[in-house]
Formats: sequence, C-alpha cells, structure tokens
Amino acid sequence: MARFAGKAVVVVGAGSVAEGWGNGKAAAVAYAREGGRVLCVDRAATAAAATCALIAAEGHSAVPFVSDLTTPGAAEAMVEAAEAAFGRIDVLHFNIGISTPGGVGALDWDEWDRVFNTNVKAAARAAQAVLPPMLRQGKGAMVFISSLASVHDSPYAYTSYEASKAALNRMSRSIAVQYAAAGIRCNTVLPGVIDTPHAAAYVTGTVDHADTARRRAAMVPMQRQGTAWEVAEAALFLASDAASFITGVALPVDGGMCG
Ligand SMILES: NC(=O)c1ccc[n+]([C@@H]2O[C@H](COP(=O)([O-])OP(=O)(O)OC[C@H]3O[C@@H](n4cnc5c(N)ncnc54)[C@H](O)[C@@H]3O)[C@@H](O)[C@H]2O)c1
Repeated sequence: MARFAGKAVVVVGAGSVAEGWGNGKAAAVAYAREGGRVLCVDRAATAAAATCALIAAEGHSAVPFVSDLTTPGAAEAMVEAAEAAFGRIDVLHFNIGISTPGGVGALDWDEWDRVFNTNVKAAARAAQAVLPPMLRQGKGAMVFISSLASVHDSPYAYTSYEASKAALNRMSRSIAVQYAAAGIRCNTVLPGVIDTPHAAAYVTGTVDHADTARRRAAMVPMQRQGTAWEVAEAALFLASDAASFITGVALPVDGGMCG
C-alpha cells in the first residue's frame, strides 16, 4: 500500500554530503517509493539533482529546489515552489543539521550562531512557512530530524549541537501542542549512531573510519550502527496517517541506547 499516494512532501536537506545514503536522501527516496511527490530541497544543486534522478529512475516523482534554508526568505520561496509544483503541502520533513565539536570551555561563538541558525532557526522558519497551506488544508505533518545527543550523553563533547537539538525537540513539542486542534501534527526523530556519509565526514573526521565504526557500533546495545533507511522509516511512520493520533513525540531510533 502506498502510504503517501497523492501527498506532497517537502524534504529539506534531501541530498547527501558525499556518496552513499544520508538520512535526507534515503527519506526523500522512501517517501517517493510510497507514492509521495517530493520537493527535494538542498543548497547543493548537484545533491538535489542526484536525489531527484534516483527517484525518477525508479519511476517516481520529484522536483529539485536549490536553496540555503538558513537565508531569510528561503523557506517562503520553498513553500511557493512546492505549491506551484503540487498545489499543496502535506509533509514537511526537516533533515538539515550541522555540528561543531567542542565543550563549553572552548566554544567559538560564531560557530555557536552557525549551529543554532541551521539546527533551530532554519527549522522554525520552515515550520512557519508551511503553516499557511497546512492550516488551509486543515491537515499536515511536520517531522524534524533531531538527534539522540539532545537527550543522551555521548563520549564526544558537542555542546552547541546537543543544546541546539534539545531546542529543536522543544520547538517541535510547542508546535505540536499549538496546532493539534488545527489538524497539524509535529514530531521529532532522534537518530542514534547512524552510518551515513555525514557521520563519516563530520563526526569521525580524519580518524580511521573502520576503527571508529567499530567503536560507534560498540556503544549500541544492538552492537551495530543504524542505517539512513531505519531513520527514514521512523520518520515516514510519524508523517503518515498511520500515526494520526501521535503528535509531540521524540522517537529514538537508536538500537536501544536511550533509556
Ligand atoms: N549520522 C548520524 O549518526 C546522525 C545522528 C544523529 C542525528 N543526525 C542528523 O541527521 C541529519 C543529517 O543527515 P544526513 O545524513 O542527510 O546529512 P548530510 O550532511 O548528508 O545532509 C543532507 C543534505 O543537507 C544539505 N544541507 C545542509 N545544510 C543546508 C542548508 N542550510 N540548506 C539546504 N540544504 C542544506 C546538504 O547539502 C546535504 O546534501 C542532521 O539533522 C543530523 O543532526 C545524524
């Protein structure tokens, strides 16, 4: 059964920073495989085009939209593009998120602003921009990709990332409660350690990837990293009508780490 047949889905950060399956790329493809028409939003034109090409090659529907969602006006332009392409917006899937290593003793304030500008403010701008069409429709679902780091300790100090993702969880909960009666649901997914090109590029840095992958897997009760598809599947459930009575939750996808 195609869970998103006839639905219009906006995936923010639908590309991947490198070869392989990132969370946003897998999510965009997964929505399309379930019948969704997907606006693939990414600041990197090649990344947006690559995801759209994968979707088209499978015979599904996607439209690229190249934009940096941290810039003023970008979210409104994204909504205009989605409405022009599909006539409605059923799902906002907000995937972008950046991190800078460092504990509170070594915070760089420009980096702090950059992290919060992307992880929280751009998410708020996107939510604000999709509200008018969702309110007109009397229905809509937002899913924000947060992080287990917002609620759970890790061996790495990423103070600005942890704080920004906790703020994102709280913002999502606030949206959920404010707009529940209007038919709009809002939830977050908290990925744990996931084997993505993003993690390889930003978390492990120049460290030997195989060794880091083993150590990351060892932190998980299931003794393995998750995949972008497992994160996407949780998001699709929350965005789908199957989750019609679920709003304001933060769902860990973490192989049992949280608890
Ligand atoms: N991989 C993990 O272990 C892990 C764990 C927890 C949470 N997460 C979360 O998953 C998300 C990232 O997942 P991914 O694998 O898709 O990452 P990714 O870095 O591959 O990003 C996906 C796309 O987002 C685009 N992008 C980045 N900033 C943008 C902006 N300002 N405007 C428009 N597009 C932008 C990039 O160009 C890229 O193509 C983040 O929110 C991250 O915090 C990942």
